[in-house]
Amino acid sequence: MEVTLNVKRFDPESKEQGSHFQEYNLEVEDHSTVLDALVKVREEVDGTLALRCSCRASICGSCSMRVNGHAKLVCKTKLRDVIQHDHKVLVEPMNNMPVVKDLVADMKPFWDKVRAIQPWLQPDGAAPEREYIAPNATMLHLTGVMSCIMCGACVSDCTALEVDKNFLGPAALAKAYRFLGDPRDDAGNNRLKMYGESGGIWDCTRCMECVQVCPKGVAPMERIMSLRDQAIQAGFNNNNGARHTESFSELVKHSGRLDELRLPIKTFGMFNFPALIGLLPVGLRALRRGKMPPIIHKSIPGAEKVRRIFEKVEGKK
Ligand code: FES
Repeated sequence: MEVTLNVKRFDPESKEQGSHFQEYNLEVEDHSTVLDALVKVREEVDGTLALRCSCRASICGSCSMRVNGHAKLVCKTKLRDVIQHDHKVLVEPMNNMPVVKDLVADMKPFWDKVRAIQPWLQPDGAAPEREYIAPNATMLHLTGVMSCIMCGACVSDCTALEVDKNFLGPAALAKAYRFLGDPRDDAGNNRLKMYGESGGIWDCTRCMECVQVCPKGVAPMERIMSLRDQAIQAGFNNNNGARHTESFSELVKHSGRLDELRLPIKTFGMFNFPALIGLLPVGLRALRRGKMPPIIHKSIPGAEKVRRIFEKVEGKK
């Protein structure tokens, strides 16, 4: 099979500033992975190409890169699944991380954030005399999240991180879920308080990118949503994120659709003038484009049925 790898190159020691793209034309086996092709380039065509890999079996998590714009483990990605009609495949380093060289990203910010969620057990009281073996049944719900190989794919493609560098990000928060749910840990409330602070669980925009690109099915966004539920249930709801969530549901439950004018007032508080004034430019832009929500909000026909759905779900909870 013929393939043209279009690889993003960056050399910090080069006199030329910035990055550029370089094409490599190769003949590869039909079953080859993107990593096979990159290694072939490095070994046979251009020894200066930098990339990172180790296990070549989607276990170690070291070969994450963006292929055609989305993060993937390249050792798990068959070329035939990503090749374009012109035989090209675009390969770039992970996003949301500094690039060390070519396809190698610096994962220090990633590990700093994982460390920030305190990924270790914090039991109360004295250390147990014997090993605390958690019963299987209490750990089963964590098996999905424990499949995480810390490859960074979810962080690479996180759209919230792209605009909010302070956000802990999907990998760290999935890890937070894992420790919060461990029966051997007693720091639940401290954790929920910490994870609810600025840069935490309320900063996720629910774009689902992390769920789509995770090569191990960890579904980080769903873990973040679960952390939000747990935080509200534990009473950590005195913040904009929790108020936004609760007000959103309340408004839809009331009239069958969202009252976009009342949502910010209920989220920030009627007398929080600085926050509300800060939203004025958004309101003016909406007005100019004819997207200003109506001042008098009307219920949809059949709003009663929506209310009943809410009551049914709330009853189940
Ligand atoms: Fe280990 Fe790809 S090389 S996961």
